[in-house]
Amino acid sequence: MSGNAYQDDRGNKDVSITNPKAATGSVAPRKSGQAVKSDDDSPFLIGENMTGGYSKNGPDILHDCTIAVNPGEIAVIVGPNGAGKSTAMKAVFGMLYLRQGRVLLDGEDISDLSPQVRVQKGMGFVPQNHNIFTSMTVEENLEMGAFIRTDDYSATMEQVFDLFPILKEKRNQPAGELSGGQRQQVAVGRALMTQPKVLMLDEPTAGVSPIVMDELFDRIIEVARTGLPVLMVEQNARQALEIADRGYVLVQGANAHTGTGKELLADPEVRASFLGG
Ligand SMILES: Nc1ncnc2c1ncn2[C@@H]1O[C@H](COP(=O)(O)OP(=O)(O)OP(=O)(O)O)[C@@H](O)[C@H]1O
Ligand SMILES: [Mg+2]
Repeated sequence: MSGNAYQDDRGNKDVSITNPKAATGSVAPRKSGQAVKSDDDSPFLIGENMTGGYSKNGPDILHDCTIAVNPGEIAVIVGPNGAGKSTAMKAVFGMLYLRQGRVLLDGEDISDLSPQVRVQKGMGFVPQNHNIFTSMTVEENLEMGAFIRTDDYSATMEQVFDLFPILKEKRNQPAGELSGGQRQQVAVGRALMTQPKVLMLDEPTAGVSPIVMDELFDRIIEVARTGLPVLMVEQNARQALEIADRGYVLVQGANAHTGTGKELLADPEVRASFLGG
């Protein structure tokens, strides 16, 4: 695609939408008393050994579950329905009661922070359901995404429009009138409006045709290539693992298989159990 700010940084005078300074290994100050791992082996974002559920006294949904992603990477979580993929994402975002484990962002333990504060720290999260405001226009949705910003976000909106040109065309239409694929673009665009340090997507291609899925994956790859780490859940396991630097197969709230996308695609057990042979 021509004229895209994500592929060509020459014309892009504004700080990138993806906040590359933040994502390229700068290390936030750590609170004293925290375990400090060396920068080399500590992922940019990690939900580590997470055990917990939706309430303090309820059942554990996650069991010693670990998911992580680094700058420039796409990490993909796959697994059967009800495996806890969304729950793991919500745990990383601070919407779960964790009995054990922790969440580190750029070396900082953020386990005790609210989702709101995590957004301010740089997490862009697109949930599986209800991820847009259907009665608001496309542009208003993107403006909502910029709610935490006090600076001029118009350049970021232009970058979102460069990434998803159809959204510019439909900027004044209610988002609820858009197709499934276009709605997902609104949802991803909304998350990008915060200039996140990491992008978390729960089933960004749910309910779209294979062609639209390929399109969306291409755009996600484009975003990841700018250095922005992408952690996503996908039900299109095979296609998602093909673009994954890191892959996690979750089963019953636990890590069943972990490896590069290629490794998982080649693993006979993963193929037989999760990829239809
Ligand atoms: N809000 C909730 N309160 C209590 N239990 C929940 C809640 N949401 C999900 N669960 C339970 O957590 C388990 C994991 O569900 P989760 O939605 O994380 O699975 P998933 O892997 O994302 O599935 P899918 O592929 O269908 O999206 C299920 O047993 C589910 O019933
Ligand atoms: Mg889910």
